[in-house]
Amino acid sequence: MSAPNIETIVSLSKRRGFVYPASEVYGGLGSSWDYGPLGVELANNIKKSWWSWLVYERDDIEGVDSSIIQNRLVWKYSGHEQTFHDPLVDCRTCKERFRLDKLQDVQCGNHPEVHPGDDKECSLTEAREFNLMFRTTMGAVSSDDDPSALAYLRPETAQGIFTNFANVLNTSRRKLPFGIAQIGKAFRNEVTPGNFIFRTREFEQMEVEYFVRPDEAAAAHQEWIDGFDAWINSIGISSSNLKHYEQTKEELAHYSERTVDILYRFFPEREDEDKQWDELMGIANRTDFDLRVHSKKPEDTEGKRINPDSTEDLSYFDPQTNERFYPYIIEPSIGVNRTLLAVMMDAYTEKTNEKGETRVILKLTPEMAPIKVAVLPLAKNNAEIVEMAKKLKHDLQPSMRAVYDDTGGIGKLYARQDEVGTPFCVTVDHDSLNDNAVTVRDRDTWEQDRVSMESLKEHLQKRLA
Ligand code: GAP
Repeated sequence: MSAPNIETIVSLSKRRGFVYPASEVYGGLGSSWDYGPLGVELANNIKKSWWSWLVYERDDIEGVDSSIIQNRLVWKYSGHEQTFHDPLVDCRTCKERFRLDKLQDVQCGNHPEVHPGDDKECSLTEAREFNLMFRTTMGAVSSDDDPSALAYLRPETAQGIFTNFANVLNTSRRKLPFGIAQIGKAFRNEVTPGNFIFRTREFEQMEVEYFVRPDEAAAAHQEWIDGFDAWINSIGISSSNLKHYEQTKEELAHYSERTVDILYRFFPEREDEDKQWDELMGIANRTDFDLRVHSKKPEDTEGKRINPDSTEDLSYFDPQTNERFYPYIIEPSIGVNRTLLAVMMDAYTEKTNEKGETRVILKLTPEMAPIKVAVLPLAKNNAEIVEMAKKLKHDLQPSMRAVYDDTGGIGKLYARQDEVGTPFCVTVDHDSLNDNAVTVRDRDTWEQDRVSMESLKEHLQKRLA
């Protein structure tokens, strides 16, 4: 089972402290969300898993953390100033604004039963291009539209990797093939954000730029697609809710030769099966576009430098073949926020207890679970039991995320931990004072085992591994 719709996750998130609406005390801010105590742990676990799989477990990836605000020329030569647009239309009747290419996904402002343009009263304007980059100004400027002070918040983390290609290559003494990984915030002034954290104007990306010889790019691309299928499964997302989508020639970004999207079933409630899926991530073969456009040497057909502003040449010299060339780049790019939503949706299950009550269980993998173990005293009025439980929590905490909770009866405490995905609850009871043992309850089976306190840490570590 997985969540029946995104709304179920919105409600669970607010109720249990995963995600809250941002600026809520002022009525919120369209499509902005804050991550609460459990949301930040889950997001950190996703990022840790990704980073450790790529940067630590492989031998060919280095990490970087580049600036959100870069020289404006980065965005000129990357093509974002010219091409990072969405086509917009306004409706003169309902006064709303829509993305021309998404009219079939939204509703008319006056007649929600139809799509904009489908009603004879709708009067749509001609489409115009709207650049999605957030603008800001750098330094103390006299006017807000001083062009010499114009800067952008990055719309993708990738460019900060391309501009550092030579730095990383030289300082880490790498040879092709190798990759650079980065996790960081990106900003897009989306025309139609929505569906909770699926599409927001501020989000976080995890991107790898993998540099290869041009003749090895196609095979490397396929390896990355297969590799990501496996990693996505490893964080608890089942293959039955995933599928691949090969972008058509018309859909490909200006830099891409081939892009395969991995889609997740974000909208299982939709009757039309085709509409249940949307992009979780994209894996692109960006060719040598990026390193060429940021380099000072390449020339156009008339012999003019394509980038007269660059001071570097980002080509690669292969000492084995004595060739100099611009490496091709394979780019797997995935959003932290969309991943978090998919992980929560896939882990969502319901189970009925012996009293006929329905309980929510978030079957997160132990690696993803925000809390690994909750230590609960059976009697919160018994000072000895409370002291023993608190000590146990502190003994476990250096090795695993542990919490202590005594704010309800044991049934309620178990239900609360099930709902946030805690794999194990440890209960300290009256017998514990004599036999130095505790009850370990399993989230998924609700089975209980008696375990000596001495071996508890090792017991839990084994089951969490
Ligand atoms: N560097 C390539 C790139 O940025 P993209 O397909 O535009 O490619 C990659 O973005 C991933 O970033 C998406 O697959 C998605 O997971 C995430 N993403 C993009 N826009 C987003 C948004 N507005 N809100 C949340 N996540 C977003």
